[in-house]
Amino acid sequence: MASAGARTRAAAAKVVDAVVSEGQSLDAAIAVHETQLPPGERSLLRMLAYGTLRHHWRLQEWIGELINRPLKRRDSVINALLAIGLFQLCDTRIPDHAAVSQTVEAVRQLRRPKLAGLVNACLRRFQREDLAARSAGSSQSRFNHPQWLIDRLKSDWPDDADDILVANNARAPMWLRVNAARGTAAEYKGRLAVEGIGSSLLDGIPDAVCLSEPQRVDDLPGFTDGDVSVQDGAAQLAARWLLGDKPRRVLDACAAPGGKSGHVLELGNGNVDLTAIDNDANRLERVRDNHERIGLGATIVQGDASKPEEWWDGAPFDAILLDAPCSASGVIRRHPDIKLLRRDTDIEALSALQAEILQALWPLLAPGGRLLYVTCSVFRAENDDVVQAFIEANGDAVEDSVLPNNNIRDLMRRKACGYQVLPGTAGLDGFFYACLVKKVS
Ligand SMILES: C[S@@+](CC[C@H](N)C(=O)[O-])C[C@H]1O[C@@H](n2cnc3c(N)ncnc32)[C@H](O)[C@@H]1O
Repeated sequence: MASAGARTRAAAAKVVDAVVSEGQSLDAAIAVHETQLPPGERSLLRMLAYGTLRHHWRLQEWIGELINRPLKRRDSVINALLAIGLFQLCDTRIPDHAAVSQTVEAVRQLRRPKLAGLVNACLRRFQREDLAARSAGSSQSRFNHPQWLIDRLKSDWPDDADDILVANNARAPMWLRVNAARGTAAEYKGRLAVEGIGSSLLDGIPDAVCLSEPQRVDDLPGFTDGDVSVQDGAAQLAARWLLGDKPRRVLDACAAPGGKSGHVLELGNGNVDLTAIDNDANRLERVRDNHERIGLGATIVQGDASKPEEWWDGAPFDAILLDAPCSASGVIRRHPDIKLLRRDTDIEALSALQAEILQALWPLLAPGGRLLYVTCSVFRAENDDVVQAFIEANGDAVEDSVLPNNNIRDLMRRKACGYQVLPGTAGLDGFFYACLVKKVS
């Protein structure tokens, strides 16, 4: 009978291998493999899988030094396990002897007993020769990012690229959004303190609470009743920015899983008529669940934002939120698999899709209304380039560059048009915002 430690490491190796070798998303791979573990072992599985993917390039460089011939393709799961073993030795507090013995035992769990000796020898040599102390050989392994991403960041953010690369490999804090219809962030901070949970507030993002340590949502006071939701602080800028002029009829054009639309509903508190659309039926279920939990409702429609003729009733909207599909390059610290799954060529296709959706939605906006263009990308091609080209092509579109409040000025970088929050700034995710207003003719 295998030990729990070996079982968890074997499951983590399957998760990492599913991402690296099969191109599955980390969330999907974890969902498959964690159900096979008792609940008490799942946080270790996540820690190992996230950490190993964050450090992928450095770990692979070490593996290249430790084994003479690459493992066969059919043994890719052992390559993943070896990476997990090295990650434990160089970046966790797991005692070395436990890391080595349980990783080696996991080789047998993965039914490759003949490779147990190799894994054991590699881990012991890594310790003996202190490979962790040697400098990284390539910029990919120094920054733990693929070269195309490093190059694009250095081109778009020459002065900030190194900081962004470091921030992308850090663990993100857990942010909450307090339901403004029920109470304030300061009140909720007090409720957390009663439970012994430390937290802080951030000037300029009034509903946000940042937890000192991540918590299980079931341990958060009032979570199941909708008093609070999990949402990064930078994502919380959207709803207040959009609702500045107190619009009545609002469209959330790419709404799933429903974070920003939930915030719109909480702030509107019954005075906003919200239509939330998304083209992904499964993700729309999560919008329904999220709205149900906070006890507020929108009209939810499955539809393609680039084809409004298929779902729009013809009545103009006072405000439109376009939280466009994007590379998610601003949220790599929460989704390290992005570094392995995205390709440079995706960016051009995404910016074409973003431009197409923006153009298609513009006729739905009433004169005088505002459209907030949002991405969780840090790439110019998906952000200011898209908005600037749109303004040049549409004479009735102007940027409203006034920020929703002055306290966020220090969090944002002004772009050719729009504003960028860089990942890691004040503990926030990377988000781009540009507010467009339709001229009244
Ligand atoms: C960045 S996510 C939106 C996050 C959401 N606004 C929130 O705050 O929870 C982008 C969404 O766009 C959706 N999407 C992608 N292409 C679309 C299209 N052509 N029409 C409508 N939705 C689309 C995706 O399914 C995804 O849910």
